[in-house]
Amino acid sequence: MPAFHMPTKIIKGEDCVLSNPQCLILGKKAFIVTGKTSGARSGALYDVIKVLEEQKIPYHVYDKIENNPEITDMARGADICRNYGADFIIAIGGGSPLDAAKAIAVYTVNEPTEDGEFKLYDIFGGSYKSKPLPMCAIPTTAGTGSEVTPYSILTLHKEQTKRSFSCVDTFFKYAFLDGKYTQGLPKQVARNTAVDAMCHLIEGYTNKKATDMTDYIAIEGLRIFGKHLAALESGEFTRDICTELLWASSLGGMVISQTGTTIVHSMGYQLTYFKDIPHGMANGYLIGEYLKGVNTVAPDKVQNVLTALNMTSLDEFNEYIKNILPRVADFTKSELEEWVETSIKAKNVASCPFFVDKSSELEIYIRSLL
Ligand SMILES: [Fe+2]
Repeated sequence: MPAFHMPTKIIKGEDCVLSNPQCLILGKKAFIVTGKTSGARSGALYDVIKVLEEQKIPYHVYDKIENNPEITDMARGADICRNYGADFIIAIGGGSPLDAAKAIAVYTVNEPTEDGEFKLYDIFGGSYKSKPLPMCAIPTTAGTGSEVTPYSILTLHKEQTKRSFSCVDTFFKYAFLDGKYTQGLPKQVARNTAVDAMCHLIEGYTNKKATDMTDYIAIEGLRIFGKHLAALESGEFTRDICTELLWASSLGGMVISQTGTTIVHSMGYQLTYFKDIPHGMANGYLIGEYLKGVNTVAPDKVQNVLTALNMTSLDEFNEYIKNILPRVADFTKSELEEWVETSIKAKNVASCPFFVDKSSELEIYIRSLL
């Protein structure tokens, strides 16, 4: 019997951070994890500091998180958090700071050493001697859904790819959704992150692990996108539309926290790692060919996706995605052949609803990118 477990409490709406200090403050000393610009640009860092100062809670702002956080940097961040003596974490940002916060929460209380009991890569084992620090999240992009998933995706330079870890305690305790923090995003960032959320909903809905509950949530999330396709194309968003898109992104996160993603994500990681293509854009390049594959085994599901999005055909879907995601890199067949060697090993390949092997993944890469 499939179960649905999502323990994050979601607080949504105008100024929800300012009006809920009791949910933001999860201890006596805060460690704020954010990116160089995401916290300040969105205004979320300002609101968080205001609440902490009003409540006389000491804090340290750690704003060193880069895109695609690297595993050794996470251990370094945890050293700073441990030395500061923080007992809870506030994560502000897009997927990278939110994912980084989860890794820092684990490493702070489980210090990795080269020859000790807990080594750097043991984080991927998913069970830890000490419980990660409690965390809350304020997303400043509407895409990853990381605020409602236990997953953290880290970059591994040694293996030239990305890999995720999770455990029951890497869910945030609270997530604050307020469209004012995403409203000022550059248009293309808003589109890329939205496509990431759309891919979470689609990959979750078409996933082998999908359940009635995840299907219900996924279709609701896709319906929200269906209402705002024109806004995404034009890049003109009201605060209300931003909050709705944040909600759709969280729905996507809820879906994949149960189902995981599929090959769109594992194949997309190579595009991000080797070509520096933003995560959502990378997935968007591949989603059309993926849906064609799904159409061979579950055409009813593809039809439901299109109906929820207010579209009538896969061609219309592909055309739309093409319009909002420019091509920012060139590819060669030989690099695609190399990437398949890594992407086929990802664990989410098993969740793909149609059969995939190296040659079919290569076909998808070729049809999507060459
Ligand atoms: Fe994603």
